[in-house]
Amino acid sequence: MKTAAVPAPATAEASGVAWGKVILLGEHSVVYGRRALASAISRRIEVRVGDVYSTARPSNGSDPLSDPRFRAALVRAAELLDLDAGHLVVRVDSDLPPGVGLGSSAALSVALVRALAAFAGADTCNAEVCAQAYELERIFHGTPSGIDNTAATHGGLFVFRRGEPPRQVDAPAPLSLVVAVGKTPRRTQATVAGVRERWQADPAAYEAIFDHVDTLVGVAEAALARGDAARLGAAMNENQALLGRMGVSTLELDELVAFARARGALGAKLTGGGGGGAIIALCRDAQAAAALAESYGQAGIQAFTTTVEASAAARAAASGGATPRLRAARASQSEVA
Ligand code: MEV
Repeated sequence: MKTAAVPAPATAEASGVAWGKVILLGEHSVVYGRRALASAISRRIEVRVGDVYSTARPSNGSDPLSDPRFRAALVRAAELLDLDAGHLVVRVDSDLPPGVGLGSSAALSVALVRALAAFAGADTCNAEVCAQAYELERIFHGTPSGIDNTAATHGGLFVFRRGEPPRQVDAPAPLSLVVAVGKTPRRTQATVAGVRERWQADPAAYEAIFDHVDTLVGVAEAALARGDAARLGAAMNENQALLGRMGVSTLELDELVAFARARGALGAKLTGGGGGGAIIALCRDAQAAAALAESYGQAGIQAFTTTVEASAAARAAASGGATPRLRAARASQSEVA
């Protein structure tokens, strides 16, 4: 049942939060039905929504309505809840770098859906949030696989296959990552279209690459389960080579990757759409990650550390109880309600 239209919303102001993501392995091949391994990260976006009649309007944060895609997403999300977008005031606060492959548009979509649902007093479950956010994601990215809105909605460390619910995975030890952000924005829509063109020109070659990535995701999941960070890092390196063969890495990304490897990273690769954007580097421990992030900083490159780990529930499940398929691993600090 739809909720009543404005000017009588359930609350005069509401907010929604969602997290960014990293793809540890499997971007692009995930569009073609192969598995990917991804995790939410602790960087997040908060959307606050108020009505124009409210005296307690949100006042801080940026106004995203200058982006026509965001305006279109707002109109569509409001329609889904029988709200009138023209009566809404929207503010966005974020510590997630936008446009670099860390899932900012998906996080924005999820946070927007959550904020509007709360504003309308609608009881929207995560599955509905994820589905609605996917619809908004299409405004930003055309035909996304759904991995970004899945990470932003559900959080956690998970294996994803297009059209299937995410499968949370176990990791007995926390993963220490560095995210280094290049100066060229990522171009997901363009790189996805480029891969499609090349796949159409030589389907056999590309199917073989996608299969190879899928195998690496399996290798990575097994390495994660036994706490073998070195093997996970090696799988990430192999994935980066395959992404290079797909034509989505760049000189700048290759240099950022080489920078990390030369300083002892266990593995490094681009993350997200490529063509620009960010890379991730897996480090031995938190100290090594902090040192690498500092080295990037000294070289004038924006970088930050983030930790991915399984939840206590996943730890408990891993040592007894549930089957591996039912383990509920989560990224540290990244649980999404
Ligand atoms: C973007 O974060 C990941 C891609 O695989 C596109 C998608 O899955 O929709 C490049």
